[in-house]
Amino acid sequence: MDLPRTFTIRESGHRVHNPFTEEDLATLGRALRLEPGTPILDLACGSGELLCTWARDHGVTGTGVDISTVFLAAAHARAAELGVADRVGFVHGDAAGHVAPEPVGLAACVGATWIGGGVAGTVELLARSLRPGGMLLIGEPYWRREPPDRAAVEGCHASSRDDFRDLPGLVEHFGELGWDVVEMVLADQKGWDRYAAAQWLSVRRWLDANPDDELAPRMRAELDTAPTLHVRYQREYLGWGVFALMRR
Ligand SMILES: C[S@@+](CC[C@H](N)C(=O)[O-])C[C@H]1O[C@@H](n2cnc3c(N)ncnc32)[C@H](O)[C@@H]1O
Repeated sequence: MDLPRTFTIRESGHRVHNPFTEEDLATLGRALRLEPGTPILDLACGSGELLCTWARDHGVTGTGVDISTVFLAAAHARAAELGVADRVGFVHGDAAGHVAPEPVGLAACVGATWIGGGVAGTVELLARSLRPGGMLLIGEPYWRREPPDRAAVEGCHASSRDDFRDLPGLVEHFGELGWDVVEMVLADQKGWDRYAAAQWLSVRRWLDANPDDELAPRMRAELDTAPTLHVRYQREYLGWGVFALMRR
């Protein structure tokens, strides 16, 4: 089991695989007022930037789970680079159904709620790893503006308008599930640009270095349209944020 290569080509230059800048991630880490030693579980941890930087900055410990061998190799390298390899660990595997062997103080799924079949299922999954009084983190898109037509929905990589809520609807949904929203950091359009636009240079450099790769025609076609699609749709219509939740 591994992440398709198209993703690792596009996101080879990313430390955070979401529309969150490194500054946004640091802001969130500070906002949560984490106690040193807090154990964290990060499901679909990507390249482990959350765990590695928060271990360095806040003295937390933790485990990340992801299906991408490429991203996990980057996570191991980053942990070594930041001198936190003794405090964070990474597991290759399917995060769907993953429960920590020991309850944690913070359980996160940042930008991958499909692992639990949506927001509700992912909240339920993360809660199974949480110790009493602990906190969940959910990173999730929301409609920043109502998509006017099918092209806007598809341009935001959604299959239907109902894939996402608007921001009030999402915040309300957490309440309906029985959780207080106790903090949030929202991405802005600059964050979307860092996530999306950084992919274009990675794809272009990869194309230049791998013209005969079987994926080259597909990646070439993607680069032809990705910038226009981004500025027309995703950048305008989609918001994204990380929400911190505590059980009511
Ligand atoms: C949008 S990225 C977010 C990564 C990370 N949370 C971050 O913010 O940088 C989604 C991640 O989910 C991982 N992923 C997708 N399906 C998964 C699954 N079933 N189990 C574990 N990881 C999964 C991908 O490999 C990718 O790293």
